[in-house]
Amino acid sequence: MSMAYSLLKQLHLGTIALTLALFVLRGFWMMQKSPQLQARWVRIVPHLNDSLLLASGISLAVLTRQYPLVNGWLSAKLFALILYIVLGTIALKRGRTGGQRIAAWLAALLVFGYMVAVAITRDPAFFVL
Ligand code: HEM
Repeated sequence: MSMAYSLLKQLHLGTIALTLALFVLRGFWMMQKSPQLQARWVRIVPHLNDSLLLASGISLAVLTRQYPLVNGWLSAKLFALILYIVLGTIALKRGRTGGQRIAAWLAALLVFGYMVAVAITRDPAFFVL
């Protein structure tokens, strides 16, 4: 595979690791009601990283000619991504009670795990025997 592919793949995997780490960290701060959650870098860095994650994903899709609504696993990943974003904003911002936020945070982590498993198996229903 091409050098552009390897670099994009490494960027994709690196930004995935960072987005997960930042989401877990912010979840702990949310549970502790820490003011760190409002720190300037915390409101900027995750968005920058997530933009790179999305851009690397779109570039990989174009480069490998696999597209959402064409390739089932990518459709599933994209729908899961939307769900992950919605759950994430409930967990870190919009949830009204602590319970709602924690439930949304846990659900978001499950959806994230689903996305990783779908990406690795290239199968949206990898859990079906
Ligand atoms: C949080 C969001 C995401 C996660 C957790 C994630 C996870 C992964 C992982 C783990 C892989 C590597 C699979 C492997 O080769 O073993 C991968 C590859 C890939 N991702 Fe993502 N991804 C995300 C977002 C996206 C988005 C938004 C797109 C594009 C719309 C995308 C497109 C791709 C493509 C096309 C590949 C495979 C390239 C190839 O065939 O080697 N990803 N993703």
